[in-house]
Amino acid sequence: MITTKYKEVLAQVKELLKTEDLPAVEGLTAICELLNKTLEAYDWVGFYFSDFESQMLHLKAYSGTPTEHTSIPFGKGICGQVALSNENFVVPDVASQDNYIACSVDVRSELVVPLFLEGKNIGQIDIDSKTLDPFSKEDEKLLGNVCNLVSSAFGKQLNQLQHYE
Ligand code: SME
Repeated sequence: MITTKYKEVLAQVKELLKTEDLPAVEGLTAICELLNKTLEAYDWVGFYFSDFESQMLHLKAYSGTPTEHTSIPFGKGICGQVALSNENFVVPDVASQDNYIACSVDVRSELVVPLFLEGKNIGQIDIDSKTLDPFSKEDEKLLGNVCNLVSSAFGKQLNQLQHYE
């Protein structure tokens, strides 16, 4: 069951994606800002997209403290592992992970959910939290829904993000 707050957030995401001629990066940034502002445990929110030629993830939009990890090789860190596994990765306590890239010493937990376009894992949404173990199945559902909305709204425009930069 998705909570009322999450339903409201999803409705807001849908609303902002209705904006005519909205460039993908602007839309993604607005979603990051919305989630960061609205959900208490979401302290950093970003979208990475895969470049399959170089086997690298690139950060295309975020809200929160700037990170130096704007490019991440497939397989490295939580994000890099999700690029290969195609599955959600919930990390209740980052201290328990060996293959983890720290963006800030304040981060205690992380949740990464892949973004699929026509069945292919082309990117992901990444949430960092300063709270220990804050994520539930509801968060996974919310972020899966957000990724699906992004996919439907921007479609093939998202493929261009893979080679941009
Ligand atoms: N912690 C991530 C790196 C990205 S930052 O969280 C912004 C990881 O281990 O892949």
